[in-house]
Amino acid sequence: MPPGPIDWNAKYAANETPWDAGGHCPELERVVREGWVRPCPAIELGCGSGADAVFLAAWGFAVTAVDVARIALERAAGRARQTGVDVRLMERDVLDWKEPPPAVPFVLDNGLYHILRKIDLDRYRSLVAALTEPGGHFLTFSGNANEPSGLAGGPAPVKAREITEEWEAGGFDLVQLREFRFHAVKTPSGPVRPLAWSALFRRRGDQ
Ligand SMILES: C[S@@+](CC[C@H](N)C(=O)[O-])C[C@H]1O[C@@H](n2cnc3c(N)ncnc32)[C@H](O)[C@@H]1O
Repeated sequence: MPPGPIDWNAKYAANETPWDAGGHCPELERVVREGWVRPCPAIELGCGSGADAVFLAAWGFAVTAVDVARIALERAAGRARQTGVDVRLMERDVLDWKEPPPAVPFVLDNGLYHILRKIDLDRYRSLVAALTEPGGHFLTFSGNANEPSGLAGGPAPVKAREITEEWEAGGFDLVQLREFRFHAVKTPSGPVRPLAWSALFRRRGDQ
């Protein structure tokens, strides 16, 4: 029998969140520090417990952070409060988002695309395109098929060609594709740091 849809809220309730490193992603910090994206209105899709959203807000981004899991958003709210930053939190299934907000200059996805491309790539890609202003940036971190160990329980692997072609077909031009390693992820065989892709795209269209 094929697996049913994942209950993400239940995963947070049971603390079955191996991806949740407890801090923001250093690769996001690199992208921001190097000035590839500058403080602006931003949307994070699949924000989880909010470490990246809070990091961006602390850098001066006006962040809307979206997740389907209510418990993740409660944790994100607590993190924003503790840090003393404002993050607008929205509980939404991004594959069933009737009235998404207006487009912004920067959209972030840390660990969602590699899941949703197997469920409904067209719908997810259309949403990201609608949310990203022409000339704006979309940054996605995903699993990397170059991971030699093929980690059981690690992030879904994606090939460089797939990530590039899938987003270029959706109205984006590749700006930068880099390999990095995710924070420690808990797997059945112990903590690992899986190889990942950091892919920065620019939305095509008038600037
Ligand atoms: C691998 S986790 C990454 C979470 C966070 N970005 C991080 O790095 O800790 C994927 C996240 O996407 C959320 N998610 C999965 N499917 C979703 C959907 N259809 N709509 C909105 N969020 C979704 C999950 O609840 C989870 O928080």
